[in-house]
Amino acid sequence: MTTPSPFLLPHRGKKQGRWTDGALVYQIYPRSFQDSNGDGIGDLNGITQRMDYLKDMGVTAIWLSPFYPSPMADFGYDVADYCDVDPMFGTIQDFKNMMAEAGKRDIKMMIDLVPNHTSDEHKWFKESSKSSAETNPFRDWYVWRDGVQSPDGSQRPLPPNNWRDALTGGPAWEWADQRQQYFLHSFDVRQPDLNWSNPAVREAVRAAMRFWLDLGVDGFRVDAVYWMAKDPLLRNDTVNPEYVEGEDLMYHALNHDNSSGWPAVYAYLSEMGDVLKEEKYQDKQRFMVTEAYPEAHNPLKEYLTFYVGMDPEVAAPFNFEGLSMPWEAQSWRKFLKAFHGALGQINPHCVPSYAFANHDKPRLATRLGSAVARSSAILLMTLPGMVFLYYGEELGMKNVHIPPEFVQDPAAKGDPKSGLGRDGERTPMQWNDEHMAGFTSAETAWLPVADDYRTENVASQSQDPNSMLILYMQLGQLRKNSGTLKHGSIRILAIDNLNVLGYVREQVSAVKTKSTKPACQKYAVFINYSAAPAIFTTDVILRELVVSTHGNGLDGLQTQVEAGTSSNRHLKLLPHQAVVYAAA
Ligand code: GLC
Repeated sequence: MTTPSPFLLPHRGKKQGRWTDGALVYQIYPRSFQDSNGDGIGDLNGITQRMDYLKDMGVTAIWLSPFYPSPMADFGYDVADYCDVDPMFGTIQDFKNMMAEAGKRDIKMMIDLVPNHTSDEHKWFKESSKSSAETNPFRDWYVWRDGVQSPDGSQRPLPPNNWRDALTGGPAWEWADQRQQYFLHSFDVRQPDLNWSNPAVREAVRAAMRFWLDLGVDGFRVDAVYWMAKDPLLRNDTVNPEYVEGEDLMYHALNHDNSSGWPAVYAYLSEMGDVLKEEKYQDKQRFMVTEAYPEAHNPLKEYLTFYVGMDPEVAAPFNFEGLSMPWEAQSWRKFLKAFHGALGQINPHCVPSYAFANHDKPRLATRLGSAVARSSAILLMTLPGMVFLYYGEELGMKNVHIPPEFVQDPAAKGDPKSGLGRDGERTPMQWNDEHMAGFTSAETAWLPVADDYRTENVASQSQDPNSMLILYMQLGQLRKNSGTLKHGSIRILAIDNLNVLGYVREQVSAVKTKSTKPACQKYAVFINYSAAPAIFTTDVILRELVVSTHGNGLDGLQTQVEAGTSSNRHLKLLPHQAVVYAAA
């Protein structure tokens, strides 16, 4: 279970040809992407039908949110069988077809793996619930505890501690009559936590990984990893003094110092990473990205702890700064410098893994506005490592207001006061201006389609050179065909304007790309974070404007830059403008 610290490993050079370098990973929430059988819910065959769209955008890998058999208490994150497909989404054969079509387009497949908990309908839980007797082989597969005697001894025993579930903020313990004990559920009551201190559980999850690796998947997105390791003494969580009632999720009334994030998590993840390193799976690069939102006030340290605690050849943590950090040039500048500087010191194989949106957080255009959504596209798509794009972000989709009678998300139902339910960012993909945005032929879909679908959809945006989709397509193709953006380093520039972030991506060594175009060895990126124009100087020699949020060649900026002549020039960016230059 012990993993040698990467600090002790000899640093080999950066490996070329790893699909994770410069990957554009498109996150598909299968319920909402494309319905192929007219039931109002997306499915695997729907994804297969849309594979060319992904290829045209320059997508190099897919992360598929859960499609396993599930009673859908948390829309698939409550898994009832790790080794099958829910009939709602299709069959194993459909999964194989989807993989084959992705493979033809050189698109890798990462699937969601949910190791912390199962559905209460999983056979392991059903068996485990039956009895606490030693004869029950599943008795220790979940976190069962006796209750605490109530003070007057009259009532049912009280829960073992004050832990709360992350979805509703209610108690994380549920009484089970059959065993006369409580079981722990860090999420919905129908998602009991597996007992990760039990080696049999760990082996069972590794067996599930092998099942999918044998089918050819390239990796996993590993769900909710911090909860896998909790205080073995089950001590109370401490009170969070910063909690604001009615504004924050009820869950955040406590810090989660004991209910999650204990150090064993790195050992458990390393064991999972070891599966990816098994001889049988060395035919191609396999990789996993772990989901852990930094809890403390030092996110950098938390990210880096994962890079040290897991083998960076096979695993990386998500970097969620794009979801949480304020949209300020100085914050980004400081973070990028510290983060990339530290990764280089830890191990040259570390893979940064940025996500700016996902199925749990409000859409970017809703959070930061449409102008920032455009400039953040340039940031995301020119960062090193893996970048994750949540379906519909490429159209600038916004959160949809969900009327109470249509609410689906258990988090919204359990904690309605916070108003932070997740349905708004999970609405159907907007393909065209026809019935139900081309998502389904059914009368209605599982969630309402956004009102703006008639104008904001794939068909219309692909005809508009100034659309968000075209911006993403340009960036996607650039990223896919550029050895520099794939493998190059990032160097943060000192800029004499506090509202501008600037960096250079450059090749450390020559890398052959499939592109027929001559490879640019250096790109300079400048982003104006403010709603006012920004003037600054740079000594980077700029050759050609490659991509701009404001239309290539149509902005004030181009008139001020003559290709590749002198240095130290003044540049002007329009409000929220971001640009990519080929540089010398
Ligand atoms: C992760 C998923 C989220 C889910 C939770 C429980 O955070 O992204 O959607 O509700 O885990 O599995």
